[in-house]
Amino acid sequence: MLVYKPITLGPLKLSNRILMGSMHTGLEEAKDGFKALARFYAERAKGGAGLIVTGGISPNRRGALKPGGARLTSRRQVKEHSLITDAVHKEGGKICLQILHGGRYCYHPFNVGPSNIKAAINRFSPRSLSTRGVRKTVRQYSECAVLAKEAGYDGIEIMGSEGYLINQFLVTATNKRTDTYGGSFENRMRFALEIIQSIREKVGKDFAIIFRLSMLDLVNEGSSWSEIEMLAKSLENHGVDAINTGIGWHEARIPTIATLVPRGGFAFVTQKLMGSVQIPLITTNRFNTIEACEEALASGCADMVSMARPFLADPEIVNKSKVNSNAVNTCIGCNQACLDHIFKNKIATCLVNPRASHEDKWPRQAKANVIKRVAVVGSGPAGLSATIEAARLGHTVTLFESNSEIGGQFNLAKSIPGKDEFNETLRYFDFMLKEFAVQVKLNTRAEIASLTDYDHIILATGVKPRNWTIPGSDSKEVVSYIDVLKGNVAVGKRVAIIGAGGIGFDVAEFLTHDETSQFLEEWGIDETLAERGGLKEPMPGKSDHHVEIFQRSEGKVGGKLGKTTGWIHRLQIKNKGVITRNCIEYQSFEEGHLTFKESGIEHRIAFDTVVVCAGQTSYAPLLDGLRAKGKSVISIGGALSASKLDAQRAIKEGLEAAYEISPWS
Ligand SMILES: Cc1cc2nc3c(=O)[nH]c(=O)nc-3n(C[C@H](O)[C@H](O)[C@H](O)COP(=O)(O)O)c2cc1C
Ligand code: SF4
Repeated sequence: MLVYKPITLGPLKLSNRILMGSMHTGLEEAKDGFKALARFYAERAKGGAGLIVTGGISPNRRGALKPGGARLTSRRQVKEHSLITDAVHKEGGKICLQILHGGRYCYHPFNVGPSNIKAAINRFSPRSLSTRGVRKTVRQYSECAVLAKEAGYDGIEIMGSEGYLINQFLVTATNKRTDTYGGSFENRMRFALEIIQSIREKVGKDFAIIFRLSMLDLVNEGSSWSEIEMLAKSLENHGVDAINTGIGWHEARIPTIATLVPRGGFAFVTQKLMGSVQIPLITTNRFNTIEACEEALASGCADMVSMARPFLADPEIVNKSKVNSNAVNTCIGCNQACLDHIFKNKIATCLVNPRASHEDKWPRQAKANVIKRVAVVGSGPAGLSATIEAARLGHTVTLFESNSEIGGQFNLAKSIPGKDEFNETLRYFDFMLKEFAVQVKLNTRAEIASLTDYDHIILATGVKPRNWTIPGSDSKEVVSYIDVLKGNVAVGKRVAIIGAGGIGFDVAEFLTHDETSQFLEEWGIDETLAERGGLKEPMPGKSDHHVEIFQRSEGKVGGKLGKTTGWIHRLQIKNKGVITRNCIEYQSFEEGHLTFKESGIEHRIAFDTVVVCAGQTSYAPLLDGLRAKGKSVISIGGALSASKLDAQRAIKEGLEAAYEISPWS
């Protein structure tokens, strides 16, 4: 396989073509964070990453993304970083430091930019750097690179994409300067080239320099393709060893990494640059299997592939895939526990692998001191996680499932358009159940009597839909989301969805999805890159249904959806003509009409089908009986509480329960 073929990147000889892409985890600013980062990166080096790039670290105080954000500007910090480089080198890995100056994206009042133009996604306006300020910043980049070399890094990656400072210099949308750093493209790329030149002069030849170049800005007045090509060639001439791909500015209103982006869906951009330069090109975004990487390499899209989040989901993705890719815990592109956490100032981890960034807390090699007989009741995400973690710890585990297949709510989620990656999580759990020889009892409703022989019982019986009762809600037209998603009921043309949480939005997407719609067309991405920024008119698909979503509370409809993906779902249904209503008081559903008050004003609207997504309640029928018998019982996931339940909480509670019953060493 091409993936496993060695490659030379400047002074570095890499054993394979997979780069672990840059991810700032938040550990960079946490107490004892560098010790945790050292373990985090060491696991990934051991797991086979050909080269690792750290999360972005600023070359000065102003460039940090938040107040007190990580920077590398002193010898004291060199010591912390060498914890990382030592740990990675000990595992035979290689690691580059990413230098990232956020410019106008920095979320603090002392941020700077090429011009004082505020970003729509930041409430702080940047101060325009003086010409002296620009030169000082260039020097600080090179000083940071020197410190990185002292800390033992094998090289650096200069972050020149995603709308950060260097990218802001490159395009006229954000660069209105009249000095030698603004105006013509030659002037606008001067900042980037001076940074590279100054670094190369200081670090010498035996230190790798990668440049992350924005090849598709996805914003108005972004770079043109000829500018991108010109910059790439100039970077090569100035001593860059490899070019990594950047896709989309953070303020772009086009999904670039969410699960609805097809696997490797932006590889065509890197491919366009192949042949323009002789140094290796690295492609990126939504490569979550080694097979997808292999395909991109084989079709000449790039020389290497970057995978970022897949290394959160499974640190051993590269090594495991060499033997059996079914053993890989695959990133599903949900962003829920990684990017969403960063935007909430929490440590980035992973929905399918809560161990990520907490390698110390639940060591992978831990074994229970005493082997127990464990019963897990329910095979949704919580139950599956508890089962395989208890088995990994060495316990003898039996899994009870009343249905004919494992998966619980995942089986519903995977039927939603754009959420088919959940199939991978189920495939992984299924593989691990077999690997650990777990006894799986399908079509078996666990009874108290059948559980009394076990030392510990983990209840993961999940949730049941909350009732929605108004006059007429017992009509046959009023149906549950479960029956809709399972295809058990026919849904009419005009549909009311009761409840605007994640499930309500999922149902709206399910009903309005257009099978013929293509990702690039739907979101207005110009594959030919004929226009600046790579934008064209979006062509949202057509929907067969007229759908309205109802929310009782006042706030924005769908306002509680994921931090970094909620806007995509809201925009997607808006583009399909779905009507959203808030401040709703339901009155009745009679003679095919829903009567309700919206902000106090009465309406009566005809609907063929009303889909109830009005929340869920906890379902734990065995709990009291088992407790009465004095059994050791732990409830997890929906069985513990239906409030704020999602797969992330469920999987984490499964892991915690397994460790709770297992003093380990
Ligand atoms: C939690 C998180 C933090 C990130 N931090 C950085 C960063 O500091 N620098 C950077 O260039 N990209 C960063 N990225 C973007 C990734 O490098 C990568 O481009 C993106 O996740 C898409 O690739 P993937 O599908 O392989 O994850 C981050 C992504 C995530 C999920
Ligand atoms: S939280 Fe979701 S997107 Fe992030 S790494 Fe895990 S599976 Fe991938």
